[in-house]
Amino acid sequence: MRAGSETVQGLGMQDAVVSRSRALRGEMLDRLLSISDRNGLFSVTSRTLRLFLQSMMLGLGAWLAIQGQVTPGIMIAASILLGRALAPIEQAVMQWPSFQRTLAARRSLATLLAETPPEPDRTELPAPRALVEVQNLVVAPPGAKTAPVRGASLKLEPGQAAGIAGPSASGKSTLARALAGVWRPYGGSVRLDGAELEHYGDTLGRYVGYLPQEVVLFEGTVAQNIARFSPDASDEDVVDAAKRTGGHEMILGLQGGYDFQVSAGGAALSGGQRQRIAMARAFYGSPALVVMDEPDSNLDADGTMALARAVEGHKKRGGTVVIVAHRHGAFAQCDIVYLMENGRPVPATSGRSSAPVRQLQSGRRYRPGQPARQAVKKPAAGGKVAAPAEAAGSVRSVSREEQMAAAIARVTGSRGRAGERGPAVGAAANRDRPL
Ligand SMILES: Nc1ncnc2c1ncn2[C@@H]1O[C@H](COP(=O)(O)OP(=O)(O)O)[C@@H](O)[C@H]1O
Ligand SMILES: [Mg+2]
Repeated sequence: MRAGSETVQGLGMQDAVVSRSRALRGEMLDRLLSISDRNGLFSVTSRTLRLFLQSMMLGLGAWLAIQGQVTPGIMIAASILLGRALAPIEQAVMQWPSFQRTLAARRSLATLLAETPPEPDRTELPAPRALVEVQNLVVAPPGAKTAPVRGASLKLEPGQAAGIAGPSASGKSTLARALAGVWRPYGGSVRLDGAELEHYGDTLGRYVGYLPQEVVLFEGTVAQNIARFSPDASDEDVVDAAKRTGGHEMILGLQGGYDFQVSAGGAALSGGQRQRIAMARAFYGSPALVVMDEPDSNLDADGTMALARAVEGHKKRGGTVVIVAHRHGAFAQCDIVYLMENGRPVPATSGRSSAPVRQLQSGRRYRPGQPARQAVKKPAAGGKVAAPAEAAGSVRSVSREEQMAAAIARVTGSRGRAGERGPAVGAAANRDRPL
């Protein structure tokens, strides 16, 4: 509501919105009038009918009484009985709209319950290793007729991170939701340490952390939000999650620190602050897999670096991370970057449309599904990667980030890389450039 009013004021839409609202109100009044007309017609008809029947009854009774066939007492009794007998019918006519509403509500409840069958009792599985396998995954939003993710496959070993880039509406968030177990697959599978996500039942939240694209915080303290409102949360774990995701100092800067009261939706916090709290929430309790959907959309340079450090730390603990993002900076710690093409993640450093930069240099053919880490020699401390052919001294060395940037740029059609923002900003700005 508040966001809506800001948009209206900011864009000078007041007059248009007021006249639209007036038109809608006029239409509503017209309909109300016709409803009340119809209601009046029904109740007048039923009352007329009742009075007519009662008069007929009295008339007939009087005629029979004059004939001497019934006593006047019977005539009165019959008229009272008829009135009582007609009352429920009249009531039913009056209450018909609420009866219809009840029927409609029952129908929609039945549909909802049929769509979400009760969770069966599941055997509790042990804590999984962070081995993620996605096979021929098909995911569609609930109720949608088309599946934005069709036949996706990927595999992540413990200690690996994958980035997912791609144009808007290419199915990145849909894939992220399926990886986090929010949406069930229509086909194929997402397995964590060999078991499908739904086999973890209620315990899945312990093993998978999720940062949705639209961050939602709940009414409560920052600490409660980070601890996912778990009643037996330890303060130590909360602070640990915030420290690992670089949000500790930011939270201490809030009034009351970890006990800062978040209002519903987190309205009193900036977008970046909300995102960093939500990131700590995703990493809380060291889940095996952390899925983040555009975690850097509101982050400054510090925040983006904190994100990279959080991913690095998580990898070192043997966890896996999937990051959906538009900026190269978010992929700094990713072992492989995928691009969504026709509903499938295709490795960005390889694939049809994105001629593999690395392999163009090395002259080798692309092998599908090969993680960049294995294909490319591990980068040295300086972030430089030696292309295989470089060993023979024929190719200049290229940083892994540059390779990915070039490959992503080919697919998304963005032009120019270095120097796009002028020589003064150079490579650092390039790292945060939206695709
Ligand atoms: N809740 C939803 N209901 C219906 N359609 C949806 C829903 N969420 C996403 N979609 C559709 O799925 C497609 C992919 O969306 P999404 O995965 O959010 O794309 P991306 O994150 O790559 O921008 C879009 O065409 C979008 O309209
Ligand atoms: Mg999205």
